[in-house]
This record gives sequence, C-alpha cells and structure tokens, in this order.
Amino acid sequence: MGDFLIPAPERVKQFAEHVVFGTRVLDVGTGSGILAKLAYERGVRDVTAIDINPAAVAHARNLLPHVTVLHGDLFENVSGVFDTILFAAPWSEGVIRTMFDHALYDCGVVERFFKNVRPYLATKGRIWLQYCDAFPENFSRLPQWISANGFQVECSWSYMAWGQLARRQVSVILYEIR
Ligand SMILES: C[S@@+](CC[C@H](N)C(=O)[O-])C[C@H]1O[C@@H](n2cnc3c(N)ncnc32)[C@H](O)[C@@H]1O
Repeated sequence: MGDFLIPAPERVKQFAEHVVFGTRVLDVGTGSGILAKLAYERGVRDVTAIDINPAAVAHARNLLPHVTVLHGDLFENVSGVFDTILFAAPWSEGVIRTMFDHALYDCGVVERFFKNVRPYLATKGRIWLQYCDAFPENFSRLPQWISANGFQVECSWSYMAWGQLARRQVSVILYEIR
C-alpha cells in the first residue's frame, strides 16, 4: 500500500453513473483526488476537496491544479456552501495508527460528518455518501447518524464486491441524501 488509497475502479464508477453534479462541489476525504477530478471533468468549475492525510493532499494538488485542495479534518478550513457534497467514507472497524489508516477505518468519522455537514450544504443540495455493509456494527448505525441530524436517504444503489478486510462478499452502497 502507498501513502494514500488508490481507488477501486467500480467504486468510482458508482459515483460516475449516479451523481448529479451541482455547480458547487465539495469532495470530503478526497484521497487521490479522483472524485474531485470526476466533478471537474463533468464541467464543474467550483470544486473544493479536503483530506486529513497530507500525502493525499499533495497528490491531489498536483493532479488538480484548478481545484482548491485543503488539508484538514472534515470541514476544517472549508468555507462556503455546496450543492453537491461527496464523501467516499472509510467503513471498516479498526484502529488508526498511520495516516493511510484514515482511508480504511471509520472510527466515528461518518457520525461526525453528519453532525457537522449541515452549514455547508445548500438548501436544495445533496450529499452523496458511499458506505458498505462489511462491518455490521458500523453499518447498523448509519441510518441513525443520518436521521439524527435531520437528513434522509432519497435513493441508493449498490453492487457486490470482495471485502478485503471483512474477507467476504460485501455490498458497496451509494446513498443520495438530502
Ligand atoms: C475511502 S477513502 C476515499 C478516497 C477517495 N475519495 C476515493 O474515492 O478513492 C477515504 C478518504 O477520507 C479521508 N479521511 C478520513 N477521515 C477524514 C477526516 N476526518 N477528514 C478528512 N479526510 C478524512 C482519508 O484520508 C481517505 O483519503
């Protein structure tokens, strides 16, 4: 493994097939910058991306000179309001020991995301969250994280994949949330 996550193509394809991009896009946990790149390629010119991992930030800045790439924890240093907020979240259970581990282990980050995202979402904006049922304890709490903060799932799409850490077939799910 490198210093940041190299995305599985099917994961990116799920966003490419379903996301309806608004005019202002925020990519939380941008990693390699792949979803911010997708937004830019779809014609969005107001794209902001953020990651907690400095190696990911350096890579994304290099890849995407026209995108504002910030270093920080979730919405730290983010200003403005966005029509489209993307978050390909970490979904596994485990302990974060290295910067790379932020790409794998949830450790409460999705719950914090929903507690704090509201001021950054435009009135008719949408959140596009990718998550997975690989770890039942995390997955079973997702509906509560969403509803406790006044959000609801508008639509969802899933595909089956091999879960490396769960060591079984898992379902990768993209949620459209408002
Ligand atoms: C599953 S990876 C997804 C990366 C990329 N968006 C993609 O689709 O390939 C999750 C990303 O979220 C980042 N991340 C995790 N916790 C974060 C936090 N608290 N603030 C910002 N980024 C975070 C990780 O460093 C990692 O790059």
